[in-house]
Amino acid sequence: MYYKILEELKKTESYISGEELGEKLGVSRAAIWKGIQKLKEQGYEIEAVSNKGYHIVRNQDLYNGIEIEEVCNTTKIAKEVYFYEQTDSTNNCIRKLAKEGKKEGVVAVAEIQTAGKGRRGKGWQSPKGTGIWMSMLLTPNITPPEAPVLTLLAGLAVCRAVRQQTGLTAMIKWPNDILISNKKICGILTELYAEMDSVHFVITGIGINVNTEVFPEELQKTATSLKIEKGETISRKNMIKAVIEEFEKIYLQYEKECSFLPFREEYKKYCINVGKELQVLSKQPFIAKGIDITEQGELLVQKQTGEKVVVFSGEVSIRNI
Ligand code: BTN
Repeated sequence: MYYKILEELKKTESYISGEELGEKLGVSRAAIWKGIQKLKEQGYEIEAVSNKGYHIVRNQDLYNGIEIEEVCNTTKIAKEVYFYEQTDSTNNCIRKLAKEGKKEGVVAVAEIQTAGKGRRGKGWQSPKGTGIWMSMLLTPNITPPEAPVLTLLAGLAVCRAVRQQTGLTAMIKWPNDILISNKKICGILTELYAEMDSVHFVITGIGINVNTEVFPEELQKTATSLKIEKGETISRKNMIKAVIEEFEKIYLQYEKECSFLPFREEYKKYCINVGKELQVLSKQPFIAKGIDITEQGELLVQKQTGEKVVVFSGEVSIRNI
């Protein structure tokens, strides 16, 4: 109901009374009052003047499910957004929503994650009010081994969005980190739910440090935020809009062409691993030089022996960074 009240308030330039709202929406004045309280709880500034009615204050840069759904100009991703003031992990939220039968494109966004998940069993710090912690439900027509490509596509979308919105030189550290000045501003965690040969669904979770001012000591050397790099507060609403819209463009093209190839050159342009000396932290770690990103999106490296090998996953660290 409060969605509909919000729509009516946004349509009305001046004031609209509780009675008129009730008549338009076919509910009691008490229900309207409750809806208004709910909107206020979500951060909307609504003036109530006796004998005139309600008026919504315009141009508020609010970050909530209604605003994100409304602002995203998309056909598939974020048509439905679940917003959590606090949750353990938005990837877990999407897993539950998928099991309830929600459709591809549903997005979960949280203000705080109490158990944010990083790759390789690590955690992901997700404090209140400073970042974008979001996950998407995807049901691509791919085989399980192809799923890691979604991480690359999401990374490309974030890289484009950050460049567009801030002008900062965001780079990609294959496969899933976005860096500025060699420090991480974004991590991506893709989780696959599949059988041997068929994918049920994929969850792609994106964490972006947007307005973080200070990081805990253990992260200070390796993490940064858009605000620290740009020197000004960045609108999370505009940033999530840009990420979702860029991701949708890329994802729809990927679905059509079933190939990473159309994105390979752009990905390589932003990828800092190519041409660098790397440490590949597989079971038996080795030093190698990053040579290329393959047509499938794997990292091709050359060992010190001259042998070229493809790295599928596994952590890759860049020496001297
Ligand atoms: C990494 O770089 O280790 C991946 C970090 C991924 C963090 C995001 S935040 C939103 C989503 N929910 C999670 O629990 N993790 C991802």
